[in-house]
Amino acid sequence: MRATALALGLMLLSCAVSARAETPQVDYLLQCQGCHRADGGDTPGSVPPLRNFVGRFLTVPGGREYLIRVPGSAQSPLDDAELAAVLNWMIERFGPAEVSAAFTPFTAEEVMRVRTPPLTDVADARSDLVGRMAAPPLSAD
Ligand code: HEC
Repeated sequence: MRATALALGLMLLSCAVSARAETPQVDYLLQCQGCHRADGGDTPGSVPPLRNFVGRFLTVPGGREYLIRVPGSAQSPLDDAELAAVLNWMIERFGPAEVSAAFTPFTAEEVMRVRTPPLTDVADARSDLVGRMAAPPLSAD
């Protein structure tokens, strides 16, 4: 059963690699869901939740760039336009809703500009941003 599911998954993956132009949802499923789960839920101790959280990075300075430069994004095989589309899909899908309503979508041009150099101190960068999110009230910039 598992082997069959795996073989099917690999087949799907190789189709996707040879015939690009997937929808963001399919790109998420193939490239991101393995760690981030279908519903954006977390894996305690290893992968943080996207659900009701990922959009909050947009509320602190540097957070928008972080979402592009985090290894899962920047080092994915997705090209700039595909990554922009997946990030937009993630923000809209996982929210929180009050952030995604006011969200300016990522563009391929923005992703290209920000994607490199890669983020080396991911844990520090992340905890710095999350710490600033927690500081009430949210500062305007
Ligand atoms: C191998 C597991 C893995 C895969 C695959 C993965 N990620 Fe992640 N992702 C993580 C982990 C772990 C973090 C937390 C930051 C870190 O340690 O890199 C994270 C964080 C993020 C964040 C920032 C959210 C936060 O709370 O820090 C975004 C945005 C993100 N990933 C996008 C993606 C996208 C887009 C894809 C698919 C193209 C993807 N990730 C694939 C493991 C993964």
